[in-house]
Amino acid sequence: MTSKFAAIMVGCGAMSAEWIRSAKEIGVQISALVDLNLEFARARASEFQLEAPLFDNLDDAIRTVQAEVLFDCTVPAAHIEVDSKGLMNGLHVLEEKPLAMSLTEAHRLIDLAERNKLVHAVIQNRRFHPGVRKIRRLLDQGLIGEITTVNIDFFVPAHFGGFREKMDHILLADMAIHPFDTARYLIGGNAESVYCEEWNPKGSWWQHGASAHAIFRMTGGIRCTFRGSWCSEGLRTPWDSVWRIVGTKGTICWDGLENIRGEYVKKEKKDGLFYDTQDFAPAEDPDPNETRGHFSVMYQFLRDIEEGIPAETRSTDNIQSLAMVLGAIESAKLGQRVQISV
Ligand SMILES: NC(=O)c1ccc[n+]([C@@H]2O[C@H](COP(=O)([O-])OP(=O)(O)OC[C@H]3O[C@@H](n4cnc5c(N)ncnc54)[C@H](O)[C@@H]3O)[C@@H](O)[C@H]2O)c1
Repeated sequence: MTSKFAAIMVGCGAMSAEWIRSAKEIGVQISALVDLNLEFARARASEFQLEAPLFDNLDDAIRTVQAEVLFDCTVPAAHIEVDSKGLMNGLHVLEEKPLAMSLTEAHRLIDLAERNKLVHAVIQNRRFHPGVRKIRRLLDQGLIGEITTVNIDFFVPAHFGGFREKMDHILLADMAIHPFDTARYLIGGNAESVYCEEWNPKGSWWQHGASAHAIFRMTGGIRCTFRGSWCSEGLRTPWDSVWRIVGTKGTICWDGLENIRGEYVKKEKKDGLFYDTQDFAPAEDPDPNETRGHFSVMYQFLRDIEEGIPAETRSTDNIQSLAMVLGAIESAKLGQRVQISV
């Protein structure tokens, strides 16, 4: 990429530091910092030595500064309003996950972007993890055959405070979209239906839904299970979960960090009950532009604007990950399996 873009950064809370760091590295100029609380905007300006003007509302920023891009790092409930304003004012929009609070809102944003010929994408950073990219390479080599099953375990007893502890369906609504999206990336398909149970375990410091178990039926009959909790003290898993991917000829396990192990059936030669298996050779290192979380999403978003190469996390695709979250919540509420469609 060669062009320089100017961006209005909206929402200067906890996550915005990662955005500004990535923007600086890529060469995006921050032309305004916007937050309802100007102190947050001021703090980011000073931390990153930005000379951009500060605003406590987006309308004034749009009226005042020159920009091609809007970065939305506000709280989830504000995404629809902030993104709509950006798209209606001719700005390409990159927003934090989740894309929206409902499929109706998501479609409104997708339609607005399409009508105005603008790129609209979502920060779904965890699919851009070196481990995920390596596993995808191994899967593409076909050593484990066709995927039949994906199991995901997420047990992270985080004590955030703030808006999260007061949200309903907190685990599914705030966190589960990451592993759901990663599962879609690895499988190369979407969810068709889900059965989910969600509860708030004894001792929970969350208002609602800190634990959930979900079983998805994915494209091609693949089953994807998610077992997760925000309130399980001790022996926590990494943020990227612990994974087992089973195929027709073998299995890949990932500890969510550096360790990926794989075994596949070598020859159709039995030793007692079991066929002989062989370990995988380590996967090659993936493209460094694809393994850096927020940086990688931002890179693809800007490349999409400049070169028309669709970003993986365009809202037209990301709506499928949102649908998994909303489907799981719906199933948990109804106590029955529900169909997933966008
Ligand atoms: N991708 C990830 O790994 C990841 C991790 C954490 C959070 N997030 C997402 O990032 C977003 C922000 O989370 P956070 O932890 O930074 O929250 P935060 O509460 O620390 O910051 C959000 C900021 O947005 C501001 N804001 C809210 N509505 C606004 C509006 N209409 N106009 C301008 N400013 C507004 C708030 O004043 C606040 O300063 C959320 O959507 C969250 O889900 C993503």
